[in-house]
Amino acid sequence: MPPVPSPSLRSPLPVRRSELATPASNERMFEKAARSGADLVFLDLEDAVAPAQRPDARKKAVEALRDIDWGTTARAVRINGVDTEWCHDDVIDIVTRAGEQLDTIIVPKATAARDVWWVDTLLTQLETKLRRERPIRLEVLIEDVAGLEHAVEIATVSDRLDALIFGAGDFSVSMGTRVDTNFVPTVPYPGDFWHHARARVAVAARIGGVLAIDAPYPDYRDPEGYTREAGYASALGFSGKWAIHPSQVELANEVYSPTPDEVENARRNVEAYREAERSGLGATGVDGKLVDAAHVKLAEELLARAEALRA
Ligand code: GLV
Ligand code: MG
Repeated sequence: MPPVPSPSLRSPLPVRRSELATPASNERMFEKAARSGADLVFLDLEDAVAPAQRPDARKKAVEALRDIDWGTTARAVRINGVDTEWCHDDVIDIVTRAGEQLDTIIVPKATAARDVWWVDTLLTQLETKLRRERPIRLEVLIEDVAGLEHAVEIATVSDRLDALIFGAGDFSVSMGTRVDTNFVPTVPYPGDFWHHARARVAVAARIGGVLAIDAPYPDYRDPEGYTREAGYASALGFSGKWAIHPSQVELANEVYSPTPDEVENARRNVEAYREAERSGLGATGVDGKLVDAAHVKLAEELLARAEALRA
């Protein structure tokens, strides 16, 4: 197992409140995705594309990366899994032909650290050959029971890693769960069904110092359901959520942005604590509530997130 870095986020990490999925086979959706306001858009070569269309989708992804103005939106491609016949061509073709127009590769169905290591190594070879200056970043889907079990090793294996993404769809398959198409249990279940898996992804992501991004929510006509699930993940420390439709982007951006109240409280707590420190104290009270070093760290992380959004 590789060494585990200190349990604080790598700095600086990108803002990833919303990550919009767009099938690379469907060029009619590209312009809309580029204007969706998502923090990241990924062109999907994997499960949203029929197997026979995958090589053609690769060409369309390269054209979209080259030809469309993506503004400040991060440009990603989800490649096929490392156990498929398409994976190596996905990486080589996209990286070679899209050049600097590609920011991130998303690796699906990781089962162990070696899956990510393999992509990382191939990228290093390509970047050297192509004299690419800016390293390509990675995000990795934890959506398999073995992947969840090895999430810490996966989170710590590559310096390119920005995020672990929880994939509830494939994870449901891997687990044999009894859920509907929104990955909500079809039989009564006490509490939040996804708590265990999400919490483990969140913990592994923090150990690796990377972001945790929540799963897709397939029913794009159910904003309440989307917002509910996004809120559950956000409470656990997730930084963003996938969107499978542009209408979900705004919901994710809203849930994963600190509220004005949170920012105001964080500021007051930091100020009061600094004031107490100047008087030689290690804790103080704000509105009758204790504020100590842990509260200040929480507040500072929230303020850093708010600051990153203003930038
Ligand atoms: C995403 O890929 C998922 O399987 O949920
Ligand atoms: Mg999946």
